[in-house]
Amino acid sequence: MHNAYFVAGTDTDVGKTVCSCAILHAAQQAGIAMVGYKPIASGSDNTSQGLRNSDALLLQQASSVSVTYDEVNPYAFYRPVSPHIAAAEEHKTIEFSVLSQGLADLKAKSECVLIEGAGGWRVPVNNSDYLSSWVKQEQLPVILVVGVKLGCLNHALLTAEAIQADGLTIVGWIANQVQSTTDNYTVMITWLEQHLPGKKIAEIPYCPINKRDFLADYIDLTVLN
Ligand SMILES: Nc1ncnc2c1ncn2[C@@H]1O[C@H](COP(=O)(O)OP(=O)(O)OP(=O)(O)O)[C@@H](O)[C@H]1O
Ligand SMILES: [Mg+2]
Repeated sequence: MHNAYFVAGTDTDVGKTVCSCAILHAAQQAGIAMVGYKPIASGSDNTSQGLRNSDALLLQQASSVSVTYDEVNPYAFYRPVSPHIAAAEEHKTIEFSVLSQGLADLKAKSECVLIEGAGGWRVPVNNSDYLSSWVKQEQLPVILVVGVKLGCLNHALLTAEAIQADGLTIVGWIANQVQSTTDNYTVMITWLEQHLPGKKIAEIPYCPINKRDFLADYIDLTVLN
């Protein structure tokens, strides 16, 4: 197992958080000290403790290492918009050095850091940089979450091509059923198996929000070894 993985998605809202929590729970059950990291989060609640993003809170809860909110999520923005827009609105600059320091701190406290991206692969953090530029800088192995729905084969392949063009490795991918019924599901999974690099880590079924504890059972952690 590497000491960090970056969880990328074919888009925003495809299940990066749901799948990351399933991986964190699977690691917990396997006795692996894995911690979640959401370096940049847009869409947060204003609380007495400061801005709190629901993805980061879920990752914090699912981690088998005790960490503070700020350790899990160094950049929280209020509005649920692209980080480069949110940061500009709040007169903040996203510094890669902050993201890297946060990652280093979490690595020191765990066996593995599971990093959830924001949006899709080429999400901008300012006018000239992308979150993917930081992933490249850190040379992180990538886990790709595919939200299985009409159009996902194109999104999955384009994302995989962009990740590989950045010189990074897709170690595994997850098919996440974001819809209660999906036409041609089996045919799409077979196509993804034939065309995506890396191994299939899981097929996550469609699952109501209050019944997701068992999703860890679907995760094949051996792919990450
Ligand atoms: N397997 C699933 N079954 C049912 N609903 C799901 C499933 N996976 C994701 N969802 C729902 O789809 C929505 C998006 O999921 P999630 O928040 O995990 O996506 P994301 O890729 O992390 O989004 P973001 O880009 O905002 O971080 C949520 O409402 C979530 O509850
Ligand atoms: Mg998320």
